[in-house]
Amino acid sequence: MGKERDIFLWGAASSSHQVEGDNRLNDWCEWESLGRVKEPSGLACDHYRRFRDDFQIAKDLGHTSHRLSLEWSRLEPEEGVWDMTEWAHYQEVVDALRSLGMEPLLTLNHFTLPLWLYRKGGWSYPGSVGAFETFARMAVEKLGNIVTFWITVNEPLVHAFMGYVRGVWPPGRTDFRESLVVIANQIRAHARAYPAMKLAARDRFSRDIRIGVAHNVERFLPRSSFSPADLFAVSLRHRFYNHLFVWSLQSGWIIFPGFRVERVGAGRALDFIGINFYTCGYVRFAGLKAPAVFGTLSDPPGRAPEWRNSLGWRVCPQGAYVVLKDFSRYRLPIMVTENGFCTQDDAERSRFIREHLSWIFRARREGVPLAGYYYWSLLDNFEWAEGYGPRFGIVEVDYASQKRTLRPSAHVLSERMTSELAGEDY
Ligand code: FCB
Repeated sequence: MGKERDIFLWGAASSSHQVEGDNRLNDWCEWESLGRVKEPSGLACDHYRRFRDDFQIAKDLGHTSHRLSLEWSRLEPEEGVWDMTEWAHYQEVVDALRSLGMEPLLTLNHFTLPLWLYRKGGWSYPGSVGAFETFARMAVEKLGNIVTFWITVNEPLVHAFMGYVRGVWPPGRTDFRESLVVIANQIRAHARAYPAMKLAARDRFSRDIRIGVAHNVERFLPRSSFSPADLFAVSLRHRFYNHLFVWSLQSGWIIFPGFRVERVGAGRALDFIGINFYTCGYVRFAGLKAPAVFGTLSDPPGRAPEWRNSLGWRVCPQGAYVVLKDFSRYRLPIMVTENGFCTQDDAERSRFIREHLSWIFRARREGVPLAGYYYWSLLDNFEWAEGYGPRFGIVEVDYASQKRTLRPSAHVLSERMTSELAGEDY
């Protein structure tokens, strides 16, 4: 990537715990058993056993790549103990993709943590940084010959916010300072894993791998564009929520004004930026103390009802364009590592896909180095605390029979993608 301007991967994204089924050894299993979710994940999409058929569906749709994640709790069920059968499983999974001619994009950590690490404090435990580095190096030693594109952590700020500020995800804490520790440890973990992974790939396989993060980015707008206070809150929220993680990894500094300044790694620790884009929000000034200083999300009064998904997230396709233009400042290839819509009305999903692709490719035509796009998700799946209600899939899953049925939007994605790519002249 970088010079390889024409690399473009596309397909759908998923994560281990949301599709595999029968996970038993991670923090979410415990959270589910405590009744903290609408319904437990159970067998999910049984993808752990059905991955070949699922990949075939993606292949038939023309996808050139698939984003998936390793389930750390299966691979390291106890601290320092590797389960070689599970490593062999993921080798088979990746091989299955490659034998279909699809490029894997592999996430090391998509929210779920092994129970042993969770019990020590998860990402707030200082030892999480070293534990992740060890896991990441092991993953490259096992899979670095067949996986070129890697993502270290998925949505570090979402994990910190939902688990440590709102307290609705494990570990259910409501402590802003602790959430900063969690974010800092994920930055440190990436910064340490990045050179270790590169080295492992070079030493063992004499090849280079490409490493990024999958970072949730939102477009923030002031609740009132005439209010300097709202504009101030938007600007701080944007810097903190959207840019802090990527900026820290590129600069080699963690700077949390008033909390912490620290050198972290050598900087330039990303080969690409993965952006998960779903929504935009209106921000209202809420005070000068942290975390209120980042404002609260609040709808402007008297606004006509806007387009929302079935979870109530506001949909704003143009926001994808704004965000991509903004992130091109890092001069790194960008992949849209997630973008999706949950609904009972598939025609709305098709509209979502059409409008987003049109804005995203407009950004690419205007010079944004877009290197990939992944729709969330191939299959309907377990949507964390929300359970199985939200339907994000371009493929419907009947959870009772595990039957897969293609939705029309699956074809819309393929057709739009093919014509956007064909219409380009690079
Ligand atoms: C993202 C998560 C992903 C999925 C989608 C809907 O924030 O990364 O696991 O739940 O939202």
